[in-house]
Amino acid sequence: MKKYLLDLKVTENDRLHPNYCLLKLTSENLLPEMFPGQFVEVRVDGSPSTFLRRPISVNYVDKESNELWLLIQLIGDGTRKIAEYRKGDTMNLVLPLGNGFSIPESFQTNNKFLLVGGGVGTAPLLFLGSCLKSLGYEPIFLLGGRSKIDVLQLDNFSKFGKVYVTTEDGSLGEKGFVTNHSILEKEYFDQIYTCGPKLMMVAVAKYAASKEISCEVSLENTMACGIGACLCCVENTVDGHVCVCTEGPIFNTKKLKWLD
Ligand code: FES
Repeated sequence: MKKYLLDLKVTENDRLHPNYCLLKLTSENLLPEMFPGQFVEVRVDGSPSTFLRRPISVNYVDKESNELWLLIQLIGDGTRKIAEYRKGDTMNLVLPLGNGFSIPESFQTNNKFLLVGGGVGTAPLLFLGSCLKSLGYEPIFLLGGRSKIDVLQLDNFSKFGKVYVTTEDGSLGEKGFVTNHSILEKEYFDQIYTCGPKLMMVAVAKYAASKEISCEVSLENTMACGIGACLCCVENTVDGHVCVCTEGPIFNTKKLKWLD
């Protein structure tokens, strides 16, 4: 898939949470096609300690307003610098990178998709849910966070499907972790997608395996070059060691060695 090096204009920067901001970017030209699960690499200008681009997953593509949304978790100098971008600033990005989630062509509209996310891992699930909805499916979202304020973009998620929530302190939804939510025992799912902390994704993968449900995960291995050159994102799979940036970030859990 063709990659582009683009200067995009910031149209909005919303601080959704002390540690997260939502950047909306646009271009004078039509944005390139992007698929859910893909990511971009952002050049960080003005941070002397940040030499490498930062990989950020595509949160949403608003085709009507020609906008790309990026949910940024502020976890280091680079992402803190990115969070300082303001309306009208220009951001340099390489996009789109990586593969995307797969949507089985044989599925019918009554097939059930469960999208499980935690923390910043909920980001790619919004775009995935919107694409599933536009194909006629009714995705079900299961989102988790430590507390109420950590579960982000609920209004956006609820436009595309039913949303269930867990919080560790019980301030919203069911108390506990996503993998303890009662919906997992009440419903049957045909396909699961997940993104978030590795422990959570492993637990989701185990649940899927126990029910013989196909499951795709979005890996968040440390990345630097984003093009398969530095080998810092390598993951051990049944096909050997592969670069997550070029072979992923989406993998079917059958390909990973998590459950061995
Ligand atoms: Fe460099 Fe994947 S980030 S090889």
